[in-house]
Amino acid sequence: MDPYKIREDFPILKRKINNNPLIYFDNAATTQKPKQVIDAINEFYRNHNANVHRGVHTLSQEASELYEDAHEEVAKFINADSMEEIVFVRGTTEAINLVAYAWGLWNLKKGDEVLVTLMEHHSNIVPWELLSRINGFKVKYADVNDDGTLNYEAFENAISNKTRIVCLPQVSNVTGVVNDVKKIVKMAHEHDSLVLVDGAQSVPHLPVDVKDLDVDFLAFSGHKMLGPTGIGVLYAKREILESMEPFHGGGEMIKDVTFNTVTRRCSISWNDLPWKFEAGTPHICGGVGLMAAVRYLENIGMENVRLHEKMLTGYALRRMQELEKIKIYGPRDASSKCGIIPFGIAGLSSHDVALFLDHYGVMIRSGLHCAQPLHEKFKLKSSARASFYIYNTREEIDRFVEVLKEIE
Ligand code: ALA
Repeated sequence: MDPYKIREDFPILKRKINNNPLIYFDNAATTQKPKQVIDAINEFYRNHNANVHRGVHTLSQEASELYEDAHEEVAKFINADSMEEIVFVRGTTEAINLVAYAWGLWNLKKGDEVLVTLMEHHSNIVPWELLSRINGFKVKYADVNDDGTLNYEAFENAISNKTRIVCLPQVSNVTGVVNDVKKIVKMAHEHDSLVLVDGAQSVPHLPVDVKDLDVDFLAFSGHKMLGPTGIGVLYAKREILESMEPFHGGGEMIKDVTFNTVTRRCSISWNDLPWKFEAGTPHICGGVGLMAAVRYLENIGMENVRLHEKMLTGYALRRMQELEKIKIYGPRDASSKCGIIPFGIAGLSSHDVALFLDHYGVMIRSGLHCAQPLHEKFKLKSSARASFYIYNTREEIDRFVEVLKEIE
């Protein structure tokens, strides 16, 4: 893959910030959008806009077809059995909340345990902590090692027959560490526990095959993989979705709502999958934009995406170590992680580092990255974080290191 050719598809990368070329290293927060995605959204609103599954007219048929195609495209991308296993949601956070409230609320009780890790994004902690206040189950935290990798032994010790669901990120949004999901799935299934994988930082960067991983739930966001904001995906095995209650109630998710004049109650039957979980008018153009994003990534090939990011990460890790006052957190080995590098500069807060870089047109994230327990584990108040994607280059990393040298 040629990142220079890819860059031509991203209008925003032509921008100058304070007279410097824009260097966008905040891809773990959200990625930029190629013109193919922008054009697909534009084309939808110009020529095909209508509500889905609600009209017999031409535009509604076209919009419905596009929206269904988007589900099909995503199913193919992660090797799901069918689009019935693909629920469109607002993003990873909503997908996890859906599992918590549509599965957890009905299935977890006092005495049960939900096992998460200390490297979780808050979106895979807070829904479970909230729900445990209602249902009285226990949320257990599996420890991570000092280098940020998962402690598999601690994980194995923490799983028991009380564990009903295991939740973990495939890739940490702080360190980029890639977890061995297959190993965890095997451990969990031996204890009859389900597994929910937060794929927000993995699906955009690695080939992900839900059948090969054998995960029960996979949550990810469109905006971190070239798509628009406000659209994301919950994948779940069909039989699990069939057994679950709906999350939101409303139009689209029902088949029949019949009023019984004797009992004066309605009896309701649910729509087919995946619509049972997509109440209300969905984010139709979001789905269309996500389909364009998936096609764009498929054209490049996810193996190539992974290779390019590995090359960039290895190069950045080497170059950053030239700096005297830098401390790089997490593993320094590009093969065990994705393109996310957290770091600190002695004597400066992470926000100071980010503001300094911004002055030279380099965008990184600073703060806690919605993962406070992991920062507490590392005894950090915050961290600076550079994260890469398909359009980043070695020259950009050279410039980033040059600017960091100015700080020192
Ligand atoms: N979860 C996103 C991040 O890690 C926003 O930056």
